[in-house]
This record gives sequence, structure tokens and C-alpha cells, in this order.
Amino acid sequence: MPPSSSVVDSAPAPAGPSASALVRAIRGERTDRLPVWFMRQAGRSLPEYRELRVGTHMLDACLTPELAAEITLQPVRRHGVDAGIFFSDIVVPLRLAGIAVEIEPGRGPVFTDPVRTASDVAKIVAVDPEQVAAAAQPIRDAVRIVVGELGDLPLIGFAGAPFTLAAYLVEGGPSKEHLRARAMMHADPESWHALAGWLARVSHAFLRAQTDAGASAVQLFDSWAGSLSVADYRAFVAPHSRAALAGIDTPRIHFGVGTAHLLRDMRLDGTADAVGVDWRTPLDEAAAVLGPDITVQGNIDPALLHAPWHVVEAHVRDVIARGASARAHILNLGHGVPPDTDPDVLTRIVALAHEVSA
Ligand code: CP3
Repeated sequence: MPPSSSVVDSAPAPAGPSASALVRAIRGERTDRLPVWFMRQAGRSLPEYRELRVGTHMLDACLTPELAAEITLQPVRRHGVDAGIFFSDIVVPLRLAGIAVEIEPGRGPVFTDPVRTASDVAKIVAVDPEQVAAAAQPIRDAVRIVVGELGDLPLIGFAGAPFTLAAYLVEGGPSKEHLRARAMMHADPESWHALAGWLARVSHAFLRAQTDAGASAVQLFDSWAGSLSVADYRAFVAPHSRAALAGIDTPRIHFGVGTAHLLRDMRLDGTADAVGVDWRTPLDEAAAVLGPDITVQGNIDPALLHAPWHVVEAHVRDVIARGASARAHILNLGHGVPPDTDPDVLTRIVALAHEVSA
């Protein structure tokens, strides 16, 4: 070692997930490799997933550590993506809190007892969110298995944002416009804030379980936030989403669908490091609105996954070119992988992204 070089200069480049392209991009660095992963990369688009899930209910699969770990790893092996996303569901922490919920195939989360009245809310918020942390051992066990297998690749943990969870819980199941949750905000703001505040603590505990066990980044899914006006988002939703993410000490991504009008607010005053954009807003326009202090994620149109390859390729190249105007870009879809997607198309997109950025 020449005497002039310091220990720092000659230290080997840091390895491990915190030096990965994904984590650095969320933090705002432009890396020589464009990181790419897909929302819902684990799941029904993969034959190996469908085979493994035979005979096991969705939420039971989520709470069986070896199974959840294996399902998380399947798309990483197959596609060569730059991150795993933990296989679980936004309603898992509610199940851990003792709430009766099932996931109906082809439909989504269904609750035995919808939370609609002030007394329903009072009953549910009496459950201590710490109970979620205590019951989350299968989550921590699964995350540890995955992190051990991933090596230098990062695992993304996730949770549902309070509004998207409430959209299911107040309705009792999936809905198009989330009318009951949005009505509660105005009809009984006190109950709404009690419920959303509780959901924020529950999702926070779920994120904590994943980061404590080794997840290197997190994403908060507010999939249905696009149904809100800007005024309602600011008054009734953003403070609770911020609380769900506050104090999580990994880089943080915040995602919603149909949120062009909410993008600036979705930065959550700096609590989010990256914002996920759906396919409706070109990334250069999103970056102009979001400003220079935040990373963008997205925004391949999931519908185009069914188009001929030359169409997909042109679209992906356009997304990458537009993403170049943000401080950093994570390539992803604008929403989840549709279940009938040919997985080979996803593998080709990963290869293309890495080739373009090399
Ligand atoms: O690969 C990944 O992205 C990780 C796993 C993941 C799942 N759900 C697995 C899952 C993640 C991140 C979620 C989050 C989730 N769950 C969201 C937010 C993301 C989004 O898509 O907007 C929402 C809204 C839910 C609620 C939910 N759970 C829905 C709407 C459904 C689909 C119902 C259906 O059958 O179409 C689920 C079930 C679910 N969650 C599946 C998977 C793989 C399908 C279950 C199956 O295989 O039968």
C-alpha cells in the first residue's frame, strides 16, 4: 500500500444490501446499474408459485416462514431482479391483531365484521398495536431466511397505508370508490382519525418486524389513495401515512395508483425517499412535479405486458429515458404484475434494463 493512501481509500468497496443499486437509488444516487423489480413479482404469474400454493390458504402461506421465504425468492431466481419483495399481504398485520379476515381468491381481503360505526372503531382501536409486534415472529423468521439467501441483494419490506387498509376494513371487502371510508372522514372525523391512527401503528409494527429482521428498504402501498381529493388527502390521510413510515430507519418508498394530483403531497414532507408513479403520468412529468430531492419508481404500463415484444421494448426504453430526468430512478411497473402475465416477458424486461444502463 503506498504510504500516502489512507485506510479509507484502500478499504474494499462496501458490499451487502446497503450498497446495492436499489438502496442507493432510493437514497438518490445514480448508479451504473438501473435497479428493477416488480410489484407482485411473486404470485400467480409464476407456475412454481401456483404449484407451491396448492392446498394452502393465502394468509396461512404468509404465516408459514419457510413457505413465505421460498415464494419471496422464486422471482429473484427466475428474473434476476435487483430486489426481493417480501411475500405477505397488507392485511397480515390485521390478522396478527386478531381481526377476522380472509383473502378470497380472485376477489381480495374480506372482513367478517366491517368497522363502520363509532362503537366498531372504539372496539378495534382498543387492541394494542404492540400485539402485532408480539405475534409477528413468523414474519421475522421468514425475513431472516430470505435475507440469508439473498446475500448482497436487498429485501424490500412493505405495509399497507392506513387509507388503503381502511378502504377494505370499513367496507368489509373490496370496493370501487371506497365510499364508506371516505364518508366516515366527513361524517365522523373523530372516529376516522382514531381508526387511521391505529392502522398507522399496526402497519408501523409490521414494517418494524421486517426491518428488525433484516429488510433493507420498505414500501408503503396506498393503492387506493387516487380516489381521494387533494383536500381530503391532506386533512385525513397524509398525517397517518407519515406516522406509519416515521422512524423506520431504512430507505422508504411510497406508492399509489391514480395519484397524479397527489404526487407532491405523497413526498410526506421528506418522510418518503422515493415515490412510485402509476402508468398514467410520464416519469419526466412526475419528476418535474416531485422536484429534485426525491427518487421516482415506475412506471411500465402492466397492460403492455401482453403486447408483442417490440412494443414492450419501445415502451420500456421510453420509461427509462423519461426516468433519467429524476435524481434517480427505480424501474418497476405502474401497478402489480397481472396474474396472467407471461413471466418470460418480465425476465426480458430485466435483461433490457440492465443492458440499457450498462
Ligand atoms: O410480490 C409482491 O409484490 C409481494 C406480495 C404482495 C401481495 N400482496 C401478495 C398477494 C404485496 C406487496 C401485496 C400488497 C397488497 N395486497 C396490496 C397493495 C398492492 C396492490 O396491488 O395495490 C393490496 C391492495 C392487497 C390486497 C389484496 N390481496 C388483493 C387486492 C389481492 C388479490 C386478490 C386476487 O386473488 O386477485 C390479494 C391477494 C394476494 N396478495 C395475492 C398475492 C400473491 C393473490 C393470492 C393468490 O395467489 O391467490
